[in-house]
Amino acid sequence: MEGQEIIQKELESIRKAGKIVANLREYARKIVKKDVPLLEIAEKIEAEIIKQGGKPAFPVNLGINEYAAHYTPSYNDETLASGLIKVDFGVAINGFTADNALSFDLENNETNKKLIKTSEEALKNGIEAAKQNKSLGEIGSSINETAEKANFTTIKNLSGHSIENNNLHAGITIPNYNNGKTTKLDDGIYAIEPFIIPNTATGMVYDGKPSGIYELVRPGNVRDSNARELLNYITETYNTLPFCSRWLVKKFGTRALISLSHLEKAGILHQFSQLIEKSKSVVAQSEHTLIIHQGKVEVVTE
Ligand code: CO
Repeated sequence: MEGQEIIQKELESIRKAGKIVANLREYARKIVKKDVPLLEIAEKIEAEIIKQGGKPAFPVNLGINEYAAHYTPSYNDETLASGLIKVDFGVAINGFTADNALSFDLENNETNKKLIKTSEEALKNGIEAAKQNKSLGEIGSSINETAEKANFTTIKNLSGHSIENNNLHAGITIPNYNNGKTTKLDDGIYAIEPFIIPNTATGMVYDGKPSGIYELVRPGNVRDSNARELLNYITETYNTLPFCSRWLVKKFGTRALISLSHLEKAGILHQFSQLIEKSKSVVAQSEHTLIIHQGKVEVVTE
């Protein structure tokens, strides 16, 4: 569905979610430090979202260097924060998600810092293009041009997206380069998220290992009673928003892992792959969510 109309309740929900995200961005700046376990960072951010009255819209993504997206710590993850780390998280209120990401350089590395700064500028320019009612291709172009000016480039097969109720990646794609699309953004909720890399890199991500991040793809029946119990819990708790094995191990113990693999094999759950830059290049990411209401653009996550 294109051009969804945002009604008052939706506006209130997404603004509230955005406000919590803005607070959490400050919180992340305090706790994301070199050598802190990723598990600790993810759990602290998720707990703080709940404390502030929201729901984590998906597991906190913590991608180090070439890990562009879909890395969340497993329940027994021992990885420590390092390199150029991307913190991508979302807050849901009544199923409406405010999505965002910010990057940190934990190595005091000049290239990392410049990549991060460029991703922030590219995001700013992408938002500006949306405010000027530019087409999808032109928004992408303003993002990519910002990268090229800094002698960097963008990842072409990762993009921003429209957001609908309980649907994080709805129909519309906001490209990070000019893909020739002349469509303009209607009223709705959108995330813009440039991924910036050195211009010597491939500019594409590939599917790495399974991420432990899942989403419900269709209702279904399973005979196994543990798997059935887990599926009921998933449906009630997350609806169609993404969740992770770590959350379920916390609630049900490691037996949840067997049930998850049951449900995945039955085609009821989809498991996302880790997304890794093809030439193993460092990746910086910045993201904000905006709403367009009666043609006016409002950034809700800053
Ligand atoms: Co996003």
